[in-house]
Amino acid sequence: MAAHAIFRLRTAEELRDEAGRLGLEIPYEEKTSILLEMAPVAGRSVPNRLAVLPMEGADAEADGAPSEWTLRRYRRYAAGGSGLIWCEATAVRRDGRSNPGQLMLTEKTLGGFGKLADEVRAVAKKEWGPAHRPLLVLQLTHSGRFSKPEGTPSPMIVQHNPHLDPLHGLPPDYPLVSDGELEEVRDDFVAAAELAAAAGFDGVDVKACHGYLVAETLAAFNRTESRYGGPFENRTRLLLETIRLIREEAPALLVTSRLSASDTVPFPYGFGMDPEAPERIDLAETKALVSLLARAGVGFLSVSLGIPYWKPHFGRPFDEPVPGGKLPEEHPLEGVARHLRIASELQRSSPGTALVGAGYSWLRAFGPGVGAAMVASGRTAVVGLGRGALAYPDFAKDLAARGRLDPRKVCTTCSLCSHLLRQGRRTGCAVRDAEVYGIS
Ligand SMILES: Cc1cc2nc3c(=O)[nH]c(=O)nc-3n(C[C@H](O)[C@H](O)[C@H](O)COP(=O)(O)O)c2cc1C
Repeated sequence: MAAHAIFRLRTAEELRDEAGRLGLEIPYEEKTSILLEMAPVAGRSVPNRLAVLPMEGADAEADGAPSEWTLRRYRRYAAGGSGLIWCEATAVRRDGRSNPGQLMLTEKTLGGFGKLADEVRAVAKKEWGPAHRPLLVLQLTHSGRFSKPEGTPSPMIVQHNPHLDPLHGLPPDYPLVSDGELEEVRDDFVAAAELAAAAGFDGVDVKACHGYLVAETLAAFNRTESRYGGPFENRTRLLLETIRLIREEAPALLVTSRLSASDTVPFPYGFGMDPEAPERIDLAETKALVSLLARAGVGFLSVSLGIPYWKPHFGRPFDEPVPGGKLPEEHPLEGVARHLRIASELQRSSPGTALVGAGYSWLRAFGPGVGAAMVASGRTAVVGLGRGALAYPDFAKDLAARGRLDPRKVCTTCSLCSHLLRQGRRTGCAVRDAEVYGIS
């Protein structure tokens, strides 16, 4: 591990030199046109290989419907031209909301979600023409141990975890969610997926990342006497059952998942870790799961990493931590390289699954060059931006017009968006969209 450092790269040569100095493999292509080509994703044709990754805005109405602020964010993404718009975490029921401003899809809010899907399509069409139809995926979630439906923690936990329980001061006798309750949540995912189809989304994501409820079942090594804990077959059951039921009930809908390829929490409390060396990432089970998902009809997957409330740098390499947060003991480029290595390994082991990669925002204007090299070498199918899209929603447009991004518009990885979200405030880019989201 190298010491943490902030971004100072001015040229692609400096990026190459820095990667060489740190002993990292960061592929780079000057020409980024491959990212703007039409691409097959799960049998559909998407207008380009650029994705807006799910980014919670904490700006929903009290009942969970998209507000005018939510619509503003998505109109900006739609006008920006990305081929895949992966809409943010949307609770399938009230007790699974991560904050009182999280989107929630119910019969009551269905109309609002229909409006969101319609507006995205209309804005994309107006800006880019009738042939440009972005793939619209809605991420469905239950926040599990990170639920805060009324603004204070109200955890639903699958197993006790000595690394995560202290985050909320959970006592050893804090009750575990029962199998029956997990099955109710599963059925709520299915009901929400049917509503997403009715609202006009192309697909739904059964969120299985970042330590939320479904992700926690993947790591439930210590949950005993349960259909959802212990052996691999049990730990993957909730995710696979949910996907199978959604496919049965809403056959026209694409079904996908956002997976933390590894939780980075030591074995046996985290998924994707090495039993022989508990702190080391090991993708053996992740690869097995990706191939089971492919067999279950999942043609594309979004790959993420880690648990943001525990060690956020794994998922989102940054220059600055959230105010009061710690700097990690690694260089952010090491974090970027980890994302690239994991996406490459999973794409190699499941070549038929279109993988959507993450972790590019720290690279600023060099992100597309690295993404283009990843796509050109078959190491990922689609390149996603999370914080980068919040800061620069029209990044695809600038890439199409000029072949490069404007360094004055890129994300600065300052973590203020994470800070806003943690405070339950309306979330956006405090730097590039300061009139709306600036912190004084
Ligand atoms: C403010 C904020 C909100 C996020 N919301 C979500 C979300 O709703 N669902 C999700 O899967 N990931 C979410 N993420 C993670 C991002 O999608 C993405 O994986 C992460 O920021 C790393 O990609 P990047 O380097 O392009 O930002 C969020 C991240 C941030 C900073």
